[in-house]
Amino acid sequence: MVVLVTGANGQLGQALQFIAPNHPEIQFVFCDSTSLDITNLNNVEQNFKQHKPDFCINAAAYTAVDKAESEPEKAHLINVVGAKNLAEACKKFDTILLHISTDFLFDGTKDSPYTEEDTPNPTGVYGQTKLDGEKAIQETFDKHFIIRTSWVYSQFGNNFMKTMLRLASERDKLSVVNDQIGTPTHAVDLAEVLVKISTSIFHLPSSNLFGIYNFSNEGQCSWYDFAKKIFEFNNVKINLEPIPTTSFPTPAKRPAFSVLDKTKLKNAFRIEVKHWGESLKNT
Ligand SMILES: NC(=O)c1ccc[n+]([C@@H]2O[C@H](COP(=O)([O-])OP(=O)(O)OC[C@H]3O[C@@H](n4cnc5c(N)ncnc54)[C@H](OP(=O)(O)O)[C@@H]3O)[C@@H](O)[C@H]2O)c1
Repeated sequence: MVVLVTGANGQLGQALQFIAPNHPEIQFVFCDSTSLDITNLNNVEQNFKQHKPDFCINAAAYTAVDKAESEPEKAHLINVVGAKNLAEACKKFDTILLHISTDFLFDGTKDSPYTEEDTPNPTGVYGQTKLDGEKAIQETFDKHFIIRTSWVYSQFGNNFMKTMLRLASERDKLSVVNDQIGTPTHAVDLAEVLVKISTSIFHLPSSNLFGIYNFSNEGQCSWYDFAKKIFEFNNVKINLEPIPTTSFPTPAKRPAFSVLDKTKLKNAFRIEVKHWGESLKNT
């Protein structure tokens, strides 16, 4: 079973590389943005022709949420055209596509976890391009899984946990917003879910489980709660102040509430999901 991973040097890509040795039954082909540029259809097809993957995990994306507000064309090119190119190649080479999407599709006006049936309403360019990328895939090729996730962190790449630890080494005091509620997702837990879906489907090729699924760790918290636990588990002493979003303006508006309901994924693939605090503690 061959699994081609795009964006292999990003956070999720590195998490997949980290767990690959635990899955010797899978032949992983890790492609970074130089060996496989998802915005170049010819380049994508050359890679598919060479490697003949059974699955393609798209870990490539434009993920700079605030910068996207001033670079909408670039965000569109990677998150929409890139996603469509992969769906086209998957269709041509009969490869199942696993694509990653985001909680930032939602406007955050709900106060109970978002299900796959809830209507997206992005509040920024990044969220809009991720939603348009989902639509481009849905219109192109049926054999896809779109996994919506949230607040991804790990020992790899750039993320909130690493930013907090770096800032704490430079300052005595930090202010973090406490009125945006979501769920942290450990990139390694997400990587394992992607492998679990691939191996399940490989042995059940005629199953009709394709579609959209939510995945994050269990539980919910604010960015302030998340930061507090990061410092606690890393024995960092710092003066941490909770602040409202209005005191920390950003170019892109973020959802005030973006907890994802994972019932569909847990039932379909019999997945047990760890609490975010447990995964963070073991990082
Ligand atoms: N991080 C989060 O908090 C979060 C939350 C929800 C959903 N997600 C989704 O989760 C997925 C993985 O995120 P991540 O945190 O791993 O992102 P990341 O660390 O920013 O990695 C993205 C990767 O995509 C690559 N890339 C960019 N343009 C490309 C292109 N044209 N062709 C091929 N590769 C390209 C980048 O390579 P270069 O560096 O070489 O450009 C980078 O390695 C994304 O779909 C993201 O939208 C993330």
